[in-house]
Amino acid sequence: MKILVTGGTGYIGSHVVVELLQKGDEVIILDNLINSKTTSLANIEKITGKMPTFYQENLINYGAIEKIFKDHDFDLVIHFAGLKSVSESVEKPITYYQNNLTGTINLLKCMRDFHVKKLIFSSSATVYGDSNEPKCVETMPTGKGITNPYGKTKFMIEEILKDVCTSDSEFSAVALRYFNPVGNHSSGLLGEEPNGIPNNLMPYVMKVASGELPELSIYGNDYDTPDGTCRRDFIHVTDLAKGHLAAISALNTPGFKAYNLGTGTPTSVLEMVNAFEKVSGRPLPYKFAPRRAGDLAEIWADPSKAKNELNWQAELTIEDAIKDTLTFLENHRDMV
Ligand code: NAD
Ligand code: UFG
Repeated sequence: MKILVTGGTGYIGSHVVVELLQKGDEVIILDNLINSKTTSLANIEKITGKMPTFYQENLINYGAIEKIFKDHDFDLVIHFAGLKSVSESVEKPITYYQNNLTGTINLLKCMRDFHVKKLIFSSSATVYGDSNEPKCVETMPTGKGITNPYGKTKFMIEEILKDVCTSDSEFSAVALRYFNPVGNHSSGLLGEEPNGIPNNLMPYVMKVASGELPELSIYGNDYDTPDGTCRRDFIHVTDLAKGHLAAISALNTPGFKAYNLGTGTPTSVLEMVNAFEKVSGRPLPYKFAPRRAGDLAEIWADPSKAKNELNWQAELTIEDAIKDTLTFLENHRDMV
């Protein structure tokens, strides 16, 4: 199959590209490198022995995407490209709405004009908002109580995809609702390399482990959870990547479908820190700090729909993710 992967040099996209190339698919990546580097292309080639075709283009630029669709006959599109920082989206809502919504609409317009009718979209557990039970099932309502523009773009794009499927009875769209991706490829060649001070837990932990930052702040230890810290569903990015390959089968039936990609097991922030210390054999300096605005106490996936319909389930543990993170850190000592 010939697959367009938008955002394919990014953290999750690059892991999916590896799996696709290893399966024998032809991959064309479109990415403007706003949050990634071309080094991931070289590392994809090191892992797979194959170099994907790469276009450094912005999805906002309709003409540039149209040209790519003129040059290639795609079987399907996997759409990762988007800005993803919750806090930045609160500061720069217009940038987020323009990048994520206009970018997706441009992509959908090209797909319509060039008769490409299969799309997998990177959605998020954030679409469940704060008005649901902590264990998320796809049948729950979405869109209520989403507190930031980033999360709203994910919900809005899912709604747009539903409308596109209604208007075109041959179109199939799968929204994969990721929980908390962690870890990296076991080679330690690919991974998450955010610039500056990270917002997310594992990138922050990595900077503390490498000595770049002095200590982790655990935001809140007075939640109504077993140890008082928030609980999340941390899923190894390789399991997540495999979920995309499994989801391709769901594109054979037209219409909109959503699947949770998570492990089904919540882990607390403190449990994650303790596991990191155990696997690395070194203490990870941390302190308890006040709650972070907008955080849910706990959220995790009911992954049974993906298991039943896609024959997919997470297989790796948080210890595997931590081990692979340590290999990545070892390979990237220059990051320190
Ligand atoms: P990432 O930032 O590493 O990858 C996204 C890629 O998209 C980057 O390489 C960036 O350069 C590119 N991009 C952004 N805007 C673009 C544009 N207008 N044109 C072309 N390229 C553009 O992020 P990631 O963690 O790999 O996330 C991938 C997708 O999954 C995103 O849509 C994100 O919102 C979603 N998601 C991520 C998480 C997470 O925790 N990492 C959770 C839920 C959903
Ligand atoms: N945390 C800390 N200290 C830090 C960073 C995070 O204690 O330095 C805590 C947070 O308070 C939270 C947990 O670790 O309790 C996880 O936080 P992350 O920022 O890593 O992840 P979130 O669950 O807040 O958000 C992630 C993605 C979003 C996505 C959401 C869906 O970043 O894009 O999952 O559940 F929308």
